[in-house]
Amino acid sequence: MPSPRTPVPDSADVLVRLRGVHKSFGDHVVLRDVDLDVRSGEVVVLLGASGSGKSTLCRCVNRLETIDSGEITIEGRALPSEGRELARLRADVGMVFQSFNLFGHRSVLDNITLAPVKVRGVARREAADRARELLTRVGLAHKAQAYPGELSGGQQQRVAIARALAMNPKLILFDEPTSALDPEMINEVLDVMTELAADGMTMLVVTHEMGFARRAADRVVFLDQGRILETGTPGSFFDAPRTDRARDFLSKILSH
Ligand SMILES: Nc1ncnc2c1ncn2[C@@H]1O[C@H](COP(=O)(O)OP(=O)(O)OP(=O)(O)O)[C@@H](O)[C@H]1O
Ligand SMILES: [Mg+2]
Repeated sequence: MPSPRTPVPDSADVLVRLRGVHKSFGDHVVLRDVDLDVRSGEVVVLLGASGSGKSTLCRCVNRLETIDSGEITIEGRALPSEGRELARLRADVGMVFQSFNLFGHRSVLDNITLAPVKVRGVARREAADRARELLTRVGLAHKAQAYPGELSGGQQQRVAIARALAMNPKLILFDEPTSALDPEMINEVLDVMTELAADGMTMLVVTHEMGFARRAADRVVFLDQGRILETGTPGSFFDAPRTDRARDFLSKILSH
């Protein structure tokens, strides 16, 4: 079993701050006046119905999407809009998606070393040593030379997590990392994420895995139609949601 976590104190530094964030696609408003702080070492789970804006919020944090108004800062600095600064931001903010997006024609080891060598300028040898360490951490030391197509979905997702970790990110965004997996593979990925959380990684996680949210999250944030409707500890949110929307959402998801 992964080790239990110490909760992140309120006094911890804010790593990511969103203030008054608005985002529309045409006349469709997707994020409305979103204020959110993610502290260093904190695990925040984003919940909400399909279309509530969870993925868009994540994508705005590493600037895969631009915002219309408001402010997003990382360590107090506004998100850069282009060039080298933007590349650095992307390197500092890891992202793990539902579809693993590994390079199919490259070995697992190459998938993990590529960005550290190209973007961070790490020596190839050093990157390979680190990749092997990370593969051990996600339980895949024996798969370094395999190709993604030879791995199960759960294994590919663990490689994707190792790839994100290889950049030494300040924060990792997870957007439904287990929703494309067969049920028997979900736990192997959640266990890796639970361990990362216990090790102090800052994580913003979109997931429908309520067991994970309960055990690993410091805070749960419930989005409804682009607005943060509730935010609280997993215990308070799951056991005593304050709004009808949250109650309705939980009753649907828990009766699955
Ligand atoms: N590139 C885009 N162009 C136009 N509309 C978009 C775009 N991306 C997202 N949307 C719309 O924005 C809204 C929020 O989408 P988003 O993907 O953030 O929701 P979500 O909460 O992640 O949903 P799901 O649980 O289904 O993944 C949706 O109505 C979606 O159709
Ligand atoms: Mg989504």
